[in-house]
Amino acid sequence: MQNDIQEVLISEEEIQKKIKELGAELSKVYEGRNPLVICVLKGAFIFMADLVKNMTVPIELDFMAVSSYGASTKSSGVVKIIKDLDVPVDGRDVLIVEDIIDSGLTLSHLIELLKSRNAKSTCVCTLFDKPARRTVNLEADYTGFTLPDAFVVGYGLDYAEYYRNLPYIGILKPEIYSH
Ligand code: PRP
Ligand code: MN
Ligand code: MG
Repeated sequence: MQNDIQEVLISEEEIQKKIKELGAELSKVYEGRNPLVICVLKGAFIFMADLVKNMTVPIELDFMAVSSYGASTKSSGVVKIIKDLDVPVDGRDVLIVEDIIDSGLTLSHLIELLKSRNAKSTCVCTLFDKPARRTVNLEADYTGFTLPDAFVVGYGLDYAEYYRNLPYIGILKPEIYSH
């Protein structure tokens, strides 16, 4: 597994430091409110867990599973809802937690959906962003790290479902996905 990684791009320590900062910032932003924090499965599961441990306001959690990539390295442009939310969002301050924004398709679909369900506010916190790959106009409200256009895995990000459990972000060796 570690042999498949060409280079560690962002270390575990750097990630954890950034998440502490994001948690503190979001705690201030949501002071006096009780946001509904939505984890976009599967990729955001580790970030969500670490982020909410650093938030000091009362929060409710829910999970939504969407997928646009399948086992391919390129987005298909189709966003499938695999698991919907359990709770209603109308009148709620919703904080969407994502691992990465690439084309922006996943989040633009999700934000439209939550708005149509009358969320009071929608806010996006993503740990990683690849602005070079954007095909729709979408910016996160809070971003941890901006990444180059390389095939990265780890800390929730997969290739064909593997490598999500790496505690760091690494660049995958091209020979792993080129055949
Ligand atoms: C990945 C990632 C984001 C999305 C970003 O999820 O976790 O959710 O793609 O790409 P986009 O901005 O081009 O939409 P994926 O669809 O691979 O599902 P996963 O989270 O289960 O890996
Ligand atoms: Mn995802
Ligand atoms: Mg994926």
